[in-house]
Amino acid sequence: MTQPLQAATPRPAPEAPYYLPVGNEVELFLAAYRARMPVLLKGPTGCGKTRFLEHMTHRLYRGSEAGTRAGIETSLVTVACHEDLTATDLVGRYLLEGDDTVWMDGPLTRAVRDGSICYLDEIVEARKDTTVLIHALTDHRRILPIEKRRGFDEGVSTRLLIYTAQLIDGGVGVREACTAAICRAITDDDEVQRAVTEVATTLLP
Ligand SMILES: Nc1ncnc2c1ncn2[C@@H]1O[C@H](COP(=O)(O)OP(=O)(O)OP(=O)(O)O)[C@@H](O)[C@H]1O
Ligand SMILES: [Mg+2]
Repeated sequence: MTQPLQAATPRPAPEAPYYLPVGNEVELFLAAYRARMPVLLKGPTGCGKTRFLEHMTHRLYRGSEAGTRAGIETSLVTVACHEDLTATDLVGRYLLEGDDTVWMDGPLTRAVRDGSICYLDEIVEARKDTTVLIHALTDHRRILPIEKRRGFDEGVSTRLLIYTAQLIDGGVGVREACTAAICRAITDDDEVQRAVTEVATTLLP
């Protein structure tokens, strides 16, 4: 027996993955997103990095703040980084198809084209000559170098200062911005972090 066709009922938007903030990470993420800055998530396994990102992606791409982003089909592209990952793996490569070569976007290029968030999971495992790609993408240049570059190296210190200034410009407090973009970013060593924070609080009002 055939079932009568039923009128399709619009499905309600799924709930955002549950995330309980532990500090000001939601506000910092939103400020960084508005400034189109990369965000570094650090913490032991199971502390909620992936869940936080899923929550924020849902909020920005599917929630009430989504706007035109709601039309982006894949909102989050996740890449599991490892030491054999190359810039080509991220950006893409030419593949042979019959007698032709066709360009195949890598996950980072796909995210850039679509306007999705790219989550480079375990980025510490990736080599620096691979991850340096994101510098040109996320600073004022906003370009994704497609050619594989060798020996391209950049210091990080001024970059972190600029990120800090962008956060301050986006409404984050001066000390909070320094802590998030400099003190916590440059080291995992508690003592060094305390020392850098002390310098920042001494120098800044
Ligand atoms: N702040 C939080 N709010 C809600 N759930 C959380 C939170 N922190 C952790 N969890 C829970 O802990 C589980 C593990 O978190 P998650 O997978 O995000 O950790 P992770 O930091 O990405 O770990 P790993 O480094 O191993 O990838 C989540 O599925 C979630 O159930
Ligand atoms: Mg994770």
